[in-house]
Amino acid sequence: MSRPLPNLARITRLRELFLEERRAKRALGDYWRDPKDIEAYDAVLAARIGWKWDAALAECADRGFARADGQVVLDYGCGSGIAARRFVEHFGAGELLVHDRSAHAMTFALKSHAEATPRIPAKRLPAVRDAAPDVLLVSHVLAELDQDGEDELRALISRSKRVLIVEPGNRRVARQLSQLRDEFLDTFYLQAPCPHQGTCPALTEANDWCHFFATPPPEVFTDGFWARVARELNIDLRSLPYAFLAMCRKDAGPAPPALEDPERLLGRAEILKHFARVRCCSDRGLELIEITKRHETKIWRALKKRPEQVRQAQAERNKD
Ligand SMILES: C[S@@+](CC[C@H](N)C(=O)[O-])C[C@H]1O[C@@H](n2cnc3c(N)ncnc32)[C@H](O)[C@@H]1O
Repeated sequence: MSRPLPNLARITRLRELFLEERRAKRALGDYWRDPKDIEAYDAVLAARIGWKWDAALAECADRGFARADGQVVLDYGCGSGIAARRFVEHFGAGELLVHDRSAHAMTFALKSHAEATPRIPAKRLPAVRDAAPDVLLVSHVLAELDQDGEDELRALISRSKRVLIVEPGNRRVARQLSQLRDEFLDTFYLQAPCPHQGTCPALTEANDWCHFFATPPPEVFTDGFWARVARELNIDLRSLPYAFLAMCRKDAGPAPPALEDPERLLGRAEILKHFARVRCCSDRGLELIEITKRHETKIWRALKKRPEQVRQAQAERNKD
């Protein structure tokens, strides 16, 4: 028997708030009314965010992002703490700090971390003005910040040695992330997903944005829990667009290894009978290129059916 569904009315309320915030382009007030809101969020919406983190962290590992054993990791705007949980599982940590404007959120994040990784000490950090973490995690927070929040985050980024940000893959937030990226070009190396260290070419045309697609785990297609969530909340669980950025401060470590093939395919491709048209980012800028079915079958197939496998198909092509 699949596990019981969380309170759907709570999740629906949160989704509507997030959509409203996206439409109205204004910062939301504290929306966590009590611990049950976060519990419901964690069971469904945070799980989806966790799958995006898994994809981003796999790419970071491939790009040489070093483990964080023994290091201080701070999850800013932690919510239920999904970013910290995914990061610690992939890269470890010496100590975890969680920060959120909501006390309910910090309490839940600490509890969920203690259940997942009890051996790594963790504590709440109610104010970040003096924080200078080894690794800063930011997940699905950018769009919610008002001017003071943005200023606080910028200052915190500049004091952090390594920064990992995962955000929704929509045009507005992904472009906000690219702008933030460009502000730190002088002081940080870009580790992923960027294939070069120049300004972000996705900002040149107003209709472009840097984003990718993650894969949900297999149980999403076999577990009755997820089938009911998809049906009752009308969520397409297969579609996981995300934008992300990993960078490391230039005075805190060496430059990341250069890519053998400094190109990255972005977003959703236009699939035609014999080829796919897709945006390709490199130090030449963002170009619309054609991938032929005949000559680059693996990449074409990934673009058509499994966009999350495009990066792997590109890497395999380079080995051939
Ligand atoms: C959409 S939730 C994302 C939570 C979590 N990071 C995740 O990925 O699931 C955004 C979180 O940012 C927090 N937040 C919003 N503005 C903030 C601010 N100015 N300072 C600290 N936290 C903030 C909210 O309370 C909320 O927990």
